[in-house]
Amino acid sequence: MKNRPIAKLLLKSRDVDISKYDQTFLEKSLQRRMTEMHCGYEEAYYTFMEQNNQEGEAFLNSLLIGYSEFFRNSLSFSVLEKIIFETILLKKTNSKRKEIRIWSAACSSGQETYSLAMLLKEFKNGEGEEINFRIFATDCSEEVVNEARKAEFRIESLTNLSLKRINQWFTKQGDIYTVKPELNENIDFSVFDLLNEELSSPPTSIFGNFDLVVCANLLFYYKPDSQKKIIEKVVQCLTKGGFLMTGETERSILMKYNLVEVYPQSAIFRIQNPQS
Ligand SMILES: C[S@@+](CC[C@H](N)C(=O)[O-])C[C@H]1O[C@@H](n2cnc3c(N)ncnc32)[C@H](O)[C@@H]1O
Repeated sequence: MKNRPIAKLLLKSRDVDISKYDQTFLEKSLQRRMTEMHCGYEEAYYTFMEQNNQEGEAFLNSLLIGYSEFFRNSLSFSVLEKIIFETILLKKTNSKRKEIRIWSAACSSGQETYSLAMLLKEFKNGEGEEINFRIFATDCSEEVVNEARKAEFRIESLTNLSLKRINQWFTKQGDIYTVKPELNENIDFSVFDLLNEELSSPPTSIFGNFDLVVCANLLFYYKPDSQKKIIEKVVQCLTKGGFLMTGETERSILMKYNLVEVYPQSAIFRIQNPQS
């Protein structure tokens, strides 16, 4: 792909190297965009892109598939609720830093982040008290981060939520369900590209050190060397014994690293034999 005219044009005009993406995913995205723009041949699409300033950006945006759901992988969220949060809290009993720190690392329009916040707000420690947590939620697309901050959803996107949760955590106005401010108060949304080579963690988090990183449903869009860069970045931000949650279909990618799945099929991993 690197040597194709479209790849060279995007590198020159937008400074984006599309060869980082998985080849099959790129070909499908290109075909889809060509059809939408009524271009039968790649050469015609190249000329169209060259002559239309907005098309480069539109094509790059089409590569950032933002589909998400609340509680997308129910087993993972159930393992978080029943096992992982308890384990993290236990670890914190003797530590000076009581706050649970989470990074929702490709948060799209916020469904994943708000699902985590619901679980943590509903979770009570041994004394029945609310727990102290902060979620740093990032995505490389400014557009979806702004949507996530807006916290507005249509009923169709709430299908995985019980009526109890909808009533507890949303206010309804017309067709729009808005997340209540109390669910938002422990979340920081910001723009962050996981392939940025200069930054190791979101600057808003100041020092990384996360008890849990959720990096789900984006690895499969990338080539193995880009996947490796992303995985190494998120793993080095974990506290000792911290957890990494990924997408259900990305488990096989994570298995190739020095990570163990904490519970079968959960898509939640831990570093094997952490050194420090
Ligand atoms: C399919 S959505 C997944 C959303 C959510 N994590 C989930 O599992 O439902 C993939 C998201 O990854 C984001 N993304 C893709 N490449 C990224 C990168 N290099 N850095 C940060 N976010 C990225 C996209 O903008 C998109 O919002």
